[in-house]
Amino acid sequence: MKILITGAGGQIGHDLIGALIAAGHDVTSTDLAPRPPSHAHAGGAWHRLDVTDAVAVRDVFYEVKPELVFHLAAILSARGEQDPRLAYDVNQTGTWNVLEACRKGKVLRFIFTSSIAVFGPPPSGPLPDPTPDDVALHPTTMYGVTKVSGELLSSYYRSRFGVDCRGVRFPGLISAAMPGGGSSDYALFMYVDAVRKGSYDAFARADTRIPLMYMPDAVRALLELSMADKSKLTRSIYNIAAFSPRADEIAASVQKAVPGATFTYTPDTVRQGILDSWPKALDDAAARRDWGWKPKFDLDGMTSDLVPRIRRMLELGAVLSSH
Ligand code: SER
Repeated sequence: MKILITGAGGQIGHDLIGALIAAGHDVTSTDLAPRPPSHAHAGGAWHRLDVTDAVAVRDVFYEVKPELVFHLAAILSARGEQDPRLAYDVNQTGTWNVLEACRKGKVLRFIFTSSIAVFGPPPSGPLPDPTPDDVALHPTTMYGVTKVSGELLSSYYRSRFGVDCRGVRFPGLISAAMPGGGSSDYALFMYVDAVRKGSYDAFARADTRIPLMYMPDAVRALLELSMADKSKLTRSIYNIAAFSPRADEIAASVQKAVPGATFTYTPDTVRQGILDSWPKALDDAAARRDWGWKPKFDLDGMTSDLVPRIRRMLELGAVLSSH
């Protein structure tokens, strides 16, 4: 299939491009930035694209003529609180521009990457634990607000214009790649700093618990949902879940692979507030039922696979900063 990815230079693109090419697809990756050195292995074509520029989006779609689009371009939650206007432009206007290009270019299918950030504490009390697909959405960040809107726009383009829009609400994603501006980044940095420094001072409390997922499962979810039989899908956006450890449980798991690593916890007010507004765990029964979703990695499974990858990444001199 002819596939176009937006925001391909980020953490998900790093693994998604290679998986799509390995599956035999013809992939064009797009991003505001040139192809980062960390993505050099992935292959396929690379186009510069600013999703906030409607004309540029239309032109790239006209040139590439994709059948399937993975829309990854977004400013994440913590970065979005530093610059809500930028988050609005990229996440809201960008999604609109990409959906319009899908409609005009007669793209068959559009895959939206939503997030646990669509949730927030309802006025009536805490979120149910685990949190199901259909609860009132009260996001607390601009990132979450624009993800809710992207979900609604996806459903609208599906029913109004027949663009086959589908999406997942991702937990915080962990992989041996540089994340960018997320509130869930503490989880990855527990691994990275344990390996490179032997210690990490987390910006979250020890009892912080949010849904997390290892990237190979996340990429497989995108592939499986994008290829799922349309007649089996009862909704357009699905919760998906893997595991929901407390930060100190992640620490204990890391210590099994990196003996002697030490962890301290100094919560950052803004990011801790965002983390506390998210569900502790997600109920993904609909994804399991409709398209057979099932994670392969639990926390310790991820730890044993990830630590050697992080060692290799650091040896290769990948540039990582600890926040
Ligand atoms: N990982 C994202 C963030 O922290 C949530 O989707 O913003």
